Amino acid sequence: MVGSAFRRVAHVCVYLVRKASSVSRGHQHPALGSRPAASGFTAQGAPGGVLELLGQSYPQDDYSNLSRKVLSSVGRNLHNQQYHPLWLIKERVKEHFYKQYVGRFGTPLFSVFDNFSPVVTTWQNFDSLLIPADHPSRKKGDNYYLNQTYMLRAHTSAHQWDLLHAGLDAFLVVGDVYRRDQIDSQHYPVFHQLEGVRLFSKHELFAGVKDGESLQFFEQSSRSAHKQETHTMEAVKLVEFDLKQTLTRLVTHLFGDDLDIRWVDCYFPFTHPSFEMEIHFHGEWLEVLGCGVMEQQLVNSAGAQDRIGWAFGLGLERLAMILYDIPDIRLFWSEDERFLKQFRVSDISQKVTFQVHHHSTSMQELLLFPSSASANTFPNPWTHHAQQHSY
Ligand code: DAH
Repeated sequence: MVGSAFRRVAHVCVYLVRKASSVSRGHQHPALGSRPAASGFTAQGAPGGVLELLGQSYPQDDYSNLSRKVLSSVGRNLHNQQYHPLWLIKERVKEHFYKQYVGRFGTPLFSVFDNFSPVVTTWQNFDSLLIPADHPSRKKGDNYYLNQTYMLRAHTSAHQWDLLHAGLDAFLVVGDVYRRDQIDSQHYPVFHQLEGVRLFSKHELFAGVKDGESLQFFEQSSRSAHKQETHTMEAVKLVEFDLKQTLTRLVTHLFGDDLDIRWVDCYFPFTHPSFEMEIHFHGEWLEVLGCGVMEQQLVNSAGAQDRIGWAFGLGLERLAMILYDIPDIRLFWSEDERFLKQFRVSDISQKVTFQVHHHSTSMQELLLFPSSASANTFPNPWTHHAQQHSY
């Protein structure tokens, strides 16, 4: 869910084994005929019409495929609704970053943005992130297009370039993201992501290193599994170490020490090397985030050519489902007090474990939608065809 659309075959066996097993469970590309269309979210193009969304008008064309149902989710902003479980996690992540990473005057290093419009250009969502024009993640069938130029963001990475271009070196972006998908206990066409980016100057990265003044960020060499062609190995290893340490500290802060995590090599067009973090939960390894060393071409094009950095994107629902033991992704959309009141804590770090049978309520009562065939796996809608293409 976190990064499926943008990656391709990983370098590590464990990853390939996991993908192979999800394909064998029958999750295939719609063109191959086995995946159901997103129920209730069918395509509705109306060339000639005009779509009004969040106070703007968008002329429709043959790309337009938003349904009324998905439109009604735009603006719900669950992540900004006080005491909603997604808001709770966002607040805990913010608190952690604000406390752990401070600038010279004790002020927070990371700026937080949680109010950007989910309407972005296809340039922001794809091109700015070096996603090729013919990349399968751009398919109409996988995205919500307002028209040829505008879409509902498919990931919060869509804001990276603008914020780098504005001169920011460290930021978090939280928002709702949209991907056409089947609906079941683990999938919903709207979910939420938290994006993080950190750039380093030479001084910052090498400050703690003995004889660091003589080290360099850039060199002209060749791309390998471990680094980009313009990066020195010493710079990449330090960035990678900082990235993994930052994310390990974050999940330890959220879940406590008693947590099994592992790093899996993978691929994104906007990072290299790239990794996923998986958390062991109820006997399964669940992917919670994608991350990596930012492609220097992206950083350069945004005007930060003297810097090198890391980025990550994590799925808030996935994290909340593990943290609060929430069994069904549709519950996040519930307006039922019996669900919501369980998260009204006086202290955001207070332990919450969601109880389904609270006041003898059944899951179905709490859900907004009747359940479709349930799948307990986490198939990646885009992995299958992503694997058929090479980048
Ligand atoms: N944008 C990716 C996705 O939604 C997740 C991701 C991966 C974000 C790597 C990043 C990153 O910032 O560096 O599939």
